[in-house]
Amino acid sequence: MLLALLCHAVSFAKSSDWVTIKNGDLWYDTDGKVVQAHGAGFLKVKDTWYMIGEDRSKSWNPDVNMYSSKDLQHWKFEAKIIENGVTHPDLGKQRFIERPKLLYNKKTKKYVVWCHWEGRNYGASEAGVFYSDNITGPYKFHAGERPLGIKSRDCNVFVDDDGTAYFISTIEENQHLGFFRLADDYLSATECTQLFKRQSREAPAIVKVEGTYYMLSSACTGWDPNQCKLSYSKNMTSDWSPLENIGDRIAYDTQAASILTIQGKKQTSYLYVGDRWMDPDLPNSKTIIFPLVIKDGKCEIVPANQFEINFKTGEIRY
Ligand code: DGJ
Repeated sequence: MLLALLCHAVSFAKSSDWVTIKNGDLWYDTDGKVVQAHGAGFLKVKDTWYMIGEDRSKSWNPDVNMYSSKDLQHWKFEAKIIENGVTHPDLGKQRFIERPKLLYNKKTKKYVVWCHWEGRNYGASEAGVFYSDNITGPYKFHAGERPLGIKSRDCNVFVDDDGTAYFISTIEENQHLGFFRLADDYLSATECTQLFKRQSREAPAIVKVEGTYYMLSSACTGWDPNQCKLSYSKNMTSDWSPLENIGDRIAYDTQAASILTIQGKKQTSYLYVGDRWMDPDLPNSKTIIFPLVIKDGKCEIVPANQFEINFKTGEIRY
């Protein structure tokens, strides 16, 4: 009897470690409100994921919302970390934000947000930088300008193992990708390497696996989905492989926002986080999470409508 009870307890403990991720629906936060965090960026602190993204409930004037979760399923609303008219007087008027991404700088102990800082008709082509002593804010405006004077739109960030950070953005009227190396405090760019010249890539998302950088990116087709492409390199700022198709011709109706690394006790898994824009309108765009299988130098998006993940072991099952 005792053995039976024990076995039951063990199997219960194990099954409760599995979290089901279901794609296609709106997400609701722990207060029952629709999660608004499009073009999401993530930062993991201990066992908690912090997610920031565009609040598109007003469509064109996104504030930046922050949520937290331990399982990417139950999201607690933390704060509006950047707010129209509050954080900066131009925000919500001459300027709006897209694709906010979050970094932590170990040296300065500050949280830093980099984002696309834009004006009418995407003519400003600037990057915005904000910082805070606390992850949940309040965030202060640091800069809104073309990094190193270069026109910059869609963007992401990447922090290497040694703490070197990069702002990667679509530059010079959507022609090339700029790999901007950030200063030690992550508040400004110090140099730019232009890559993928005249290949018009946007929505870049980079992950490093066993010494190789893998980058997913899309073509520039506004809010319409298009073919996601993969490139990889052993060097962040050179030797990237020619772009190759990954996934179907519309990236399963998504555009990359981030790639998450799930480091478990048994294995490390990767998750592709993408936006299903205009589904059917901007405020109702969905956030989609697919397993990204990176193994033996190969990388594949698994377009599972539903899958399970065990954050303790790092395993994924279907
Ligand atoms: C695609 C970009 O990835 C989005 O962030 C946004 O800028 C739209 N284009 C606007 O059309």
